Amino acid sequence: MAANGDGFSNASMENLTGHVEKRPISTIVFIVAMQKEAQPLIERLRLVKDVNSPFPKEVAWILFKGMYKDLNINIVCPGKDSALGVDSVCTVPASLVTYASIQALQPDLIINAGTAGGFKAKGASICDVYIVSSSAFHDRRIPVPVLDLYGVGMRKAFPTPNLIKELNLKVGRLSTGDSMDMSPHDKESITANDATVKDMEGAAVAYVADIFKVPTILIKGVTDIVDGNRPTSEEFLENLAAVTAQLDESITKVIDFISGKCLSDL
Ligand code: ADE
Repeated sequence: MAANGDGFSNASMENLTGHVEKRPISTIVFIVAMQKEAQPLIERLRLVKDVNSPFPKEVAWILFKGMYKDLNINIVCPGKDSALGVDSVCTVPASLVTYASIQALQPDLIINAGTAGGFKAKGASICDVYIVSSSAFHDRRIPVPVLDLYGVGMRKAFPTPNLIKELNLKVGRLSTGDSMDMSPHDKESITANDATVKDMEGAAVAYVADIFKVPTILIKGVTDIVDGNRPTSEEFLENLAAVTAQLDESITKVIDFISGKCLSDL
């Protein structure tokens, strides 16, 4: 449930005696940039579109919700751009939906799930699914003391050692920027971030969740090899369906693992 402003979500809230109260995770919000990425999971979990969405009437954001086992599952997609009719990808819509979802749904846990480019030099292959260990930005270059660190905005993801071990998932750092291609400047920053995967939302979701102290997991499926020899957009479109199916399988295992557990069990 709600973040309390004291650095603990209710699911891991410390009581006045200093004892960590263990309560099973109950509400999860998935932030997913493209509805296509979420569709297999929406169908598998039999989630329904909320016709009384808690979001402002002006926005295209879509909430799919339902119960799965003991978990209140919500998938929030930013929906289509009102002018161009394409998915509202990138950091600005991701930040907005994360903020609004925390306010409206008070999750115990946020999961940002989606596709990413992977670096074969760091061991990534097409269809790999990664649990992100930390996220940072690669296109916020501010060469002024301390503002440089703000720009990079590195944040550790919520630690999930038991989940990673049980599901045998790959682990890597994520670098986020608002472009699918990679300019030489971006490449330099991504290398400095030591990233294995590259996306267009993760660090923005982590930034907002960190403000409200909502534990956040990022899970990314690799659609294209950034340091390979194929054009990124071609490889992305070719592998989108297969990676989405792989993500659906991995996320289902993640949810099954989370069910009945407390944050500290992850
Ligand atoms: N999503 C999928 N592939 C990507 C890439 N190469 N860069 C950023 N986001 C992506």
